[in-house]
Amino acid sequence: MKADVLLGLQWGDEGKGKIVDVLTPDYDIIARFQGGPNAGHTLEFNGIKHVLHTIPSGIFHPTAINVVGNGVVIDPVIFKKEIDALQKMGVDVYTKLRIATRAHLILPTHRLLDAASEAHKGLEKIGSTLKGIGPTYMDKTGRNGLRVGDIKNPRFREKYDQLVAKHKEILAAYQYQYNLEELEPAWFEGIHLLQNLQMVECEQYMNDAFRNKKKILAEGAQGSMLDIDFGSYPFVTSSNTICAGACTGLGLAPGRIGRVIGIFKAYCTRVGSGPFPTELEDATGEQIRKTGNEFGSTTGRPRRTGWLDLPALKFAVMINGVTELIMMKADILSEFDRIKVCTHYLHRGEQIDYLPYDISPEFVTPVYTELPGWKKDLTGLHSTDSMPAELSSYIEFIEKQTGVPIRIVSVGPDRKQTLFRGAVPA
Ligand code: GDP
Ligand code: IMO
Ligand code: MG
Repeated sequence: MKADVLLGLQWGDEGKGKIVDVLTPDYDIIARFQGGPNAGHTLEFNGIKHVLHTIPSGIFHPTAINVVGNGVVIDPVIFKKEIDALQKMGVDVYTKLRIATRAHLILPTHRLLDAASEAHKGLEKIGSTLKGIGPTYMDKTGRNGLRVGDIKNPRFREKYDQLVAKHKEILAAYQYQYNLEELEPAWFEGIHLLQNLQMVECEQYMNDAFRNKKKILAEGAQGSMLDIDFGSYPFVTSSNTICAGACTGLGLAPGRIGRVIGIFKAYCTRVGSGPFPTELEDATGEQIRKTGNEFGSTTGRPRRTGWLDLPALKFAVMINGVTELIMMKADILSEFDRIKVCTHYLHRGEQIDYLPYDISPEFVTPVYTELPGWKKDLTGLHSTDSMPAELSSYIEFIEKQTGVPIRIVSVGPDRKQTLFRGAVPA
């Protein structure tokens, strides 16, 4: 048995939540392996729209077990809100959820540190979601962090106070004003709730699942261009969003990875700061934002929009070892007569088709190819047979450029607006 990995290939928000929900009936376990409540994964079915932040996107299906892996960082306040909302919808979260004891906790002071750090950076800010992600991973790698397993330690409060004391010193250096007393009660309520959930040694749980022939899908958060090592550093998140993150974030040996399913939008978006070679800061960009409803699922911020960037996509395919692709939001491009795709960059006077070290505007200029638009509403399509020829050409062009088949084309936010191409790989 192998675990399949599903992850975003761009700057996040590719539509991972929708597709995980669509694919869940094929799996026994859905497991998040990194990130935290900076993620916002949207699902739509039966007229319900729901956004998940920490909880895996398989939670709405009756039998799948959903695991929050050791690579995830958990904010007990947001986690409790998510659980309360799911319970109101009749989802039996307590039975279907497992939490890794090695997952790190986001403290209220981590959120304050995130805000203080961003305020200090001024114009250079990362554009963080301000959920405390960076400071929590800093404490993890700095070996100061608090983990879910610590909650059962009788010295938990003492450990919490020690870490908070450190954070207060840093906040004082930033001269940052805050009221911690206001934030702590909700945090400890969340801790209380976590105590009552099923905690697991994630690595043991996952490997036992293999032995018992369970089918596992690892759900990525963010996207490859936000990866801490391979993204547009420093404008990235603080975890490994790439396929390798599924190994460290769940306790899976590399040889356990099976299919690597990479998701991309038919165009590009980015929320937050940092380079974005194909960005459209004009009426076309605005049209994509409006039609695509490109506003952050977590923060509500308008997303920056642009044409598809093939050098970046090919880089993500390479770094993840993507075995199949899923193209999202094809319906959003239906209005355009011509669709541009960036195939190369001009880089130091040379035309290149790979991602260089720095993709800032002073180093790269996108080179575009134009393809004909399909000018047809796709949202009611039920099969690829009725797909306009221009859309088929667009898909085949991307397949040829990336060398990877596109197995699913998404034509709307609902579960049902999903077109499958070809047989499911064994
Ligand atoms: P994620 O973070 O990768 O799960 O993606 P988000 O949920 O943040 O953003 C994707 C947005 O696009 C959500 O609002 C989805 O409901 C929506 N969406 C997903 N697939 C499609 C699609 O094929 N067409 C349209 N129009 N919307 C889609
Ligand atoms: P999903 O899983 C899009 C971006 C932020 C910021 C940078 C760092 O929904 O695709 P952080 O809060 O991690 O310190 O922010 O990363 N970012 C995302 N952008 N989708 C996400 O998640 C993101 N998570 C973080 O906007 O630029
Ligand atoms: Mg999102």
